[in-house]
Amino acid sequence: MEQKRKYFTVNYGCQMNEYDTEVLSGHLENLGYVPAGRIEEAEVLVINTCAVRQKAEEKVFSYLGKLHSLKQQNPNMLMVLWGCMVQQESVARKVRQRYSFIDLICGPHALGRFPELLEKARCSTRPVIELSELGDRENLPVKRKQGIHAWVPISHGCDNYCSYCIVPYVRGAEKSRRPENIMQEIRELVREGYREVTLLGQNVNSYGKDLEKDMNFARLLELADGVEGLLRIRFMTSHPRDFSEEVIRVIRRGEKICEHFHLPLQAGSNNVLQRMNRGYTREDYLQLIAKIRELIPGASITTDIIAGFPGEAEADFAQTMDMVRRIRFDAAFTFVYSPRKGTRAACMEDQLAPEVKKERIVALNNLQNRISLEKNEKLVGSTREVLVEGRSKTDPEMYTGRTRTNKIVHFCSNEELTGKLVKITITKAGPWTLTGQLLGIEEKLHR
Ligand code: 5AD
Ligand code: SF4
Repeated sequence: MEQKRKYFTVNYGCQMNEYDTEVLSGHLENLGYVPAGRIEEAEVLVINTCAVRQKAEEKVFSYLGKLHSLKQQNPNMLMVLWGCMVQQESVARKVRQRYSFIDLICGPHALGRFPELLEKARCSTRPVIELSELGDRENLPVKRKQGIHAWVPISHGCDNYCSYCIVPYVRGAEKSRRPENIMQEIRELVREGYREVTLLGQNVNSYGKDLEKDMNFARLLELADGVEGLLRIRFMTSHPRDFSEEVIRVIRRGEKICEHFHLPLQAGSNNVLQRMNRGYTREDYLQLIAKIRELIPGASITTDIIAGFPGEAEADFAQTMDMVRRIRFDAAFTFVYSPRKGTRAACMEDQLAPEVKKERIVALNNLQNRISLEKNEKLVGSTREVLVEGRSKTDPEMYTGRTRTNKIVHFCSNEELTGKLVKITITKAGPWTLTGQLLGIEEKLHR
């Protein structure tokens, strides 16, 4: 039997990066490749990278260090370094100089041109570098993981220029996808058996501002809510500045749109928010949270927070802690500020010492973990609608699913229920996950 050519992918980035890796896999499968069980079997290795924090880059460099011997053992393996990190010219140059065994270095814009670039790299004795911003992102092949959940990008790039963030520089200007293309993709996903989609964008709330006048995120959510056979719709990431009341009302009315709001706060002091160029004050943010809770009392709210932004005084950080105490987020992703070359914040004076940043993030995490646990404990005894995702990754005896509010629940189940909505009574709570007992299949959707 003919041996099929194999590929292997490694992903370091965010959800958008995961989606891009699915497109790269789709291209490779169109070219006749199949996934390799082990990296050593691969003829093509794709490493998709992230630039958002220094740590993400360090991880990739340390991985590259290990790849040299793999290349020596498999000199024919084509090694591809893809994504946001190498879109930065200085990084691409460094990779070419120090890791010359990498065959293809590509920024995220070249997604549609991957097959031709791969061919070019195959024929070249020197690394091929492609960083141009040209490229269409429609009609691309997508090889999604089998499952019930799919990522669906609704826009690409970002125009916000938050002063700490590298994304606008590496992903380019914001561009909305055509609503008919998005809807067609969602309908097709449902036909293939997917039950939940997450609409993705750097700022989903500004969706449509480059399209016709009556197209916006609220309208898109309404359209998606009408897709028959789809069970749930999620979306991320939201920008508090652009979050309209109309969207909250559409979510409230919607049948499938989950009541989970991921609303990055980033900082709690107006002084820091202003220097971050976030475009809202702590008062605006509190008002938005109040509106969400007034209209959708059971909504869950999660956030991103950066500790140790340049010039963040003790009093500023105290304001962040105060916001966390007042709002009581369901969960928070917390980050130590990491200077990114080329961004405005990286040039600001008063960069904080690593010990100060560390101390602050520890305090923040301690506070938030306590709140997350308390909020989850309140759910014990209640019955929730859970979409079954399949066997738990950590305990194959158990199954995993999520509540509409995006809480992960572990429970005993069977394979037949995967992809179905079930009723689960919560029996135990931890800060990050819940445990529950299966009651039965959900007859109809409800909150
Ligand atoms: N340093 C630390 N965290 C950052 N983020 C973005 N840029 C930086 C940076 N330079 C965080 C923000 C954003 C999340 C995806 O990553 O909180 O919401
Ligand atoms: Fe995703 Fe941003 Fe990282 Fe790129 S830089 S992979 S867009 S988080």
